[in-house]
Amino acid sequence: MIPRSEQYSAGCRVGFVGTGGVAARHAAVLAGFDDAVLVSATDADAARAVAFATAFGTDVAPDIDALLAHGLDAVYVCVPPFAHGPIEERLAGAGVAVFVEKPPAVDESTAERIAAGFTAAGTTTRVGLHWRVGEPALRARALLEGRTVRVVNGRWLDKLPPVPWWGDPARSGGQVVEQAVHVLDLARFLVGEVAEVQAVAGGPPGDGTGGDGVRVDGATAAVLRFAGGAVGTLATTCALGWKDSAALQIVTDDLVLDVGERGLEVRENGATTHRPFDQALAHRAADRAFLDAVGGHPAVDDLPDHAEALRSHRLACAVSRSARSGRTEQVDP
Ligand SMILES: NC(=O)c1ccc[n+]([C@@H]2O[C@H](COP(=O)([O-])OP(=O)(O)OC[C@H]3O[C@@H](n4cnc5c(N)ncnc54)[C@H](O)[C@@H]3O)[C@@H](O)[C@H]2O)c1
Repeated sequence: MIPRSEQYSAGCRVGFVGTGGVAARHAAVLAGFDDAVLVSATDADAARAVAFATAFGTDVAPDIDALLAHGLDAVYVCVPPFAHGPIEERLAGAGVAVFVEKPPAVDESTAERIAAGFTAAGTTTRVGLHWRVGEPALRARALLEGRTVRVVNGRWLDKLPPVPWWGDPARSGGQVVEQAVHVLDLARFLVGEVAEVQAVAGGPPGDGTGGDGVRVDGATAAVLRFAGGAVGTLATTCALGWKDSAALQIVTDDLVLDVGERGLEVRENGATTHRPFDQALAHRAADRAFLDAVGGHPAVDDLPDHAEALRSHRLACAVSRSARSGRTEQVDP
């Protein structure tokens, strides 16, 4: 457990590194907790930090050292994939708990290095793979208890996200690493480890030349072999004109589940039931789980820590690597 700051009794003192879209979402949730104090924020783009500070009443810090000088209990790292590494390495030795937005890095080796630093420092961590703490995933997990999963079909069918770094695979990691990791993480949570993957990828969206700066794969299809015997697929595209769906279908001998951003659909004995996914509730549950972990409450949450999220990142990287190499890639859990 990390040492609490002297001020903790007045609430968990929180700082932010990266103040874009997802940081604002976390800040809005935390502002509704009576045991969170939003203290300071820093961003590579100072104007964004100022806008965030104005919206949420924080200080603006020019860099991470100035941020930490506020005596924080916890820091949210809400930067794009390419920016992970030096930030976490600075935070690991600082005696603060760290919430990292997914993915943990743009590649595997940076994420491994960060994880080793957190482990060595004994840092309390959580990663924003919040599907796990949504009601559909938790209910699906209970339904699958004692059942044998035969086949799994994951998908993420979407438009290009509007953030400027996304179309460059060297900065985002591509769609599987940056987005579909939610689906792969849910597959691990509900079905177990994946032992090997084989993937192929299609050319960039848009005019397909990459001349518009969009050089990520426009589509990926992968075959997965689970260690427990199930087989599965993952299909992604970012070339659609709208966000269609992001979900996982799981088939046992007597049950078909569809679980994802639209909720949980269960088909059993000719009957279909549907429960919606309240994403706002899952976002709240994720931030609550982190704050409770920082406060030293027993770990009862299902939100993954950095070491567990790293396993899903390794799987996403293996899919991406297979699409490049054309080979079946073994996944190291
Ligand atoms: N869990 C979820 O549901 C969810 C949802 C949205 C985004 N995300 C993840 O959050 C991350 C950020 O996404 P976003 O939509 O907020 O992006 P964004 O582009 O809106 O914001 C990122 C911010 O980080 C800043 N930044 C970049 N490098 C930095 C550095 N070295 N130090 C400090 N600040 C730096 C940028 O200036 C920008 O303000 C992505 O990895 C994304 O996948 C997760």
